[in-house]
Amino acid sequence: MNIMIINGPNLDMLGIRQPEIYGHEDYDDLCFQIDKWAEELEITVDVRQSNHEGDIVEFIHEAYEDDFDGVIINPAAYTHYSYAIRDALLILNVPVVEVHLTDISQRDEFRRHSVISDICAKTVMGKGFAGYKEALDFFFDLL
Ligand code: DQA
Repeated sequence: MNIMIINGPNLDMLGIRQPEIYGHEDYDDLCFQIDKWAEELEITVDVRQSNHEGDIVEFIHEAYEDDFDGVIINPAAYTHYSYAIRDALLILNVPVVEVHLTDISQRDEFRRHSVISDICAKTVMGKGFAGYKEALDFFFDLL
């Protein structure tokens, strides 16, 4: 099983960016954890990050073209307003799991709405890095 994991803007600055909210571990730590969990579950992952909306749209196109079995996406701030990312996800005919490190339902008003939740098979929020493990477990359970 091949899963693409897409992380949006500023997630590359984990550890530096508002550590009181996002924690002290950095993006490499997150990637290391994801690789470890994926290996345990025998899932192949392709983990990507971009600060640019168009890159994320093109990653999703690649997930379609290269027949990935699913996508895990944390679109970061784009979650709240990117119809381009929503439209790209609608091209896919495989499950998409939305992940947020923080509980966006308990934060600023503008973060409470996700423009992709209703088209995702599952949303995990507020569980920190472990949210990605829960998303991988979702795909493992499909096997
Ligand atoms: C986030 C929540 C978003 O509101 C924010 O813009 C992010 C990260 C999260 O993982 O909690 O960059 O998606």
